[in-house]
Amino acid sequence: MRIAVLSDLHAFCSDARKASDGKAVLAPSLIDFSAPTRKPNIDPLAGFIKLFESGDIAPPDLLIVGGDLGDKADTHAIQSVWKELSSLSGKFSGTKLVATCGNHDLDTRHKQNKFDPRGFLRTLEPGFPFPNPAEHRINLLEYWANHFSILEDDQYRILNINSCAFHGFGSDAEPELERGRISDITLDSIEEQLKTAVKAAPHKQNICLFHHHIRPVSTDAFDDTSTMKGSERLADMLSKASLGEWFIIHGHRHRSNLFCIGGNSAPIVLSCASFAATRTGDEHNPCPNQFYVIELEEAKSGEIARVAGTVRAWNWTPSIGWQSKTSIPGGLPVISGFGYRGYIPDLAKSVAAAVKASGKMIWTDLISSFPDLRRLMPSDHASLVEALEASGVIATEADGQIKELAPVNA
Ligand SMILES: [Fe+2]
Repeated sequence: MRIAVLSDLHAFCSDARKASDGKAVLAPSLIDFSAPTRKPNIDPLAGFIKLFESGDIAPPDLLIVGGDLGDKADTHAIQSVWKELSSLSGKFSGTKLVATCGNHDLDTRHKQNKFDPRGFLRTLEPGFPFPNPAEHRINLLEYWANHFSILEDDQYRILNINSCAFHGFGSDAEPELERGRISDITLDSIEEQLKTAVKAAPHKQNICLFHHHIRPVSTDAFDDTSTMKGSERLADMLSKASLGEWFIIHGHRHRSNLFCIGGNSAPIVLSCASFAATRTGDEHNPCPNQFYVIELEEAKSGEIARVAGTVRAWNWTPSIGWQSKTSIPGGLPVISGFGYRGYIPDLAKSVAAAVKASGKMIWTDLISSFPDLRRLMPSDHASLVEALEASGVIATEADGQIKELAPVNA
């Protein structure tokens, strides 16, 4: 199945952002709904929509949005993004749109009313974050009432968690705005529901969506205190073999990564770069604007679903638009994989033996002989290249992918 993922658009309206002296403020995003025109090579959302409408990217089964559709609760921008994305998904009969709430989407600045930060999002048309109320009325109510909802389809199940559920509430309301949270009550309810759901249909792909980070992205120059409280318990829970394997998608800090958060059946995590935010106020962020197209391998009939597949990253190049030909340092490579759970040196040994026997091997031959090569995360890919070198085989690489392997001195 194919999943298109975009996160942290931070769309805004420049007309509403004039400073007190009447001058325009620094743009938080490349998506400005006050702009006189929105061309596909200038506006990332217009460019994204064009890629799907023109058929450059095949329609996905799922269109997932990781939150922060707008910047600082810009209601017009949030409504406009949501309308454009639901209209895009509506053009393809097999595409389902699902979003989750980001901290910038909530009206914690009380622009709309003085008491309900979620009120505005609940009035969005179509319904947010599940835009098909006829089909997903219960999901919609559950998401806002229980802080999570599980959407089941024939092929997949999505656990959609509201990591901003406590924004604007509690005795520590100010610090709560700076981080995400999944409470013990929510975690217990999720586990109870998943036990039954996964047992009844173990062949479905499990996808978990929320906005905040599951682990911090601190550096010396950047102290990240916004990680979701309760994320350790969530990671432990989703690592239990009885609940199946999980693919986690989140946004928030605009840092891209693809990693495994634990042991052999632990979730694979896609931390998304921002789709369109500028670096204003985030100068230490090395990551380009990206969105992703994930190909998840489907379980064979009667089998339990494994989380394995590939991620294609699309990079935004100013005045050119979206491209997925060349990797940009700081972001995910154009192509990366996930789902290999074995021992890299053993894989390297087998590959090295095959290369030495044939003299040279190109990527397509390698993949047909060793399909696990497609399932390596960027860190595993680097380990494999090192292990191959130690075994006397040199890899020619481009854009995070091995193109050709040959024995040393071949
Ligand atoms: Fe955020």
